[in-house]
Amino acid sequence: MSDILLLGFAESRRVTGQLADLLAWPSDGIEVHRFPDGESRVRLPAELPQHVVICLSLDHPNEKLVELLLAADAARAGGAEKVSLVAPYLCYMRQDMAFHPGEAVSQKTIGSLLGDSFDAVVTVDPHLHRIERLDQAVTSTQAVSLTATRPIAEFVADHFERPLLIGPDEESLQWVSSIAEGWGFDFTVGRKERMGDRNVRICLPDDLSVTGRDVVIVDDMASTGRTMLAAVESVKSGNPASLSLIVTHALFVGDAEERIRAAGIDHLWSTDTIAHPTNAIGLAPLMADAIRNL
Ligand code: R5P
Repeated sequence: MSDILLLGFAESRRVTGQLADLLAWPSDGIEVHRFPDGESRVRLPAELPQHVVICLSLDHPNEKLVELLLAADAARAGGAEKVSLVAPYLCYMRQDMAFHPGEAVSQKTIGSLLGDSFDAVVTVDPHLHRIERLDQAVTSTQAVSLTATRPIAEFVADHFERPLLIGPDEESLQWVSSIAEGWGFDFTVGRKERMGDRNVRICLPDDLSVTGRDVVIVDDMASTGRTMLAAVESVKSGNPASLSLIVTHALFVGDAEERIRAAGIDHLWSTDTIAHPTNAIGLAPLMADAIRNL
């Protein structure tokens, strides 16, 4: 038996298979049975090697976290000495402080929960805003934070000669600048005011001209899509030659995608950290390199 095994839940079998092919490692599935009362039974292969790597993107986290923790425990009970998690999208990273008295700091709680259960956690562009490193959130473990900025930059360079990259807010500067700088693309970021979950206003710099430009709005994620929508609205009035959107994590809840498309954009693309019809930029090679070095 190999001393390493990649394991995927039903919904992460595609990425698990891609990683297994790239790494030439064996892979298998985690079976989940949902009981009528809502509890889950998780079943791993009976024979486990020394190192088990579980792959699961953590969108819709409340449904997934319990099954993930059960799987980590089952892996150890089954003999694995090292249990790693590859979560291309890592949940709860935005609630990184108590914005109002009494609020839970979810980033800390979920980060330490995962850190306690896994010996290593690999993810892509976690939303780190008030902290610099992933191991400040996912504590007491090997925390590996990858970035999709290079694959995104290559994708942009394949599609546009002289794009103008725009990030909707100051928080997106870290991604937009790193995508733009390596290739010499022009870039800027706006200023965002969020009045509620679905109520967002974006102001772009006063001296920004988008007329005749191939504008690419880039953000780490679209959830309700209202940030992207507000950014689209503020760019459109300036008559760009084309208007494209790229997000790393395609959460797109409810009617988010429909609304964004209805705003009259040319392209809506995402990486494949979360399976979605907009996926156009594959990150399996990036993740495979990191997993190889765990
Ligand atoms: C927040 O700072 C993030 O970078 C995204 O801009 C935000 O989470 C997107 O959320 P929504 O799509 O709900 O506006």
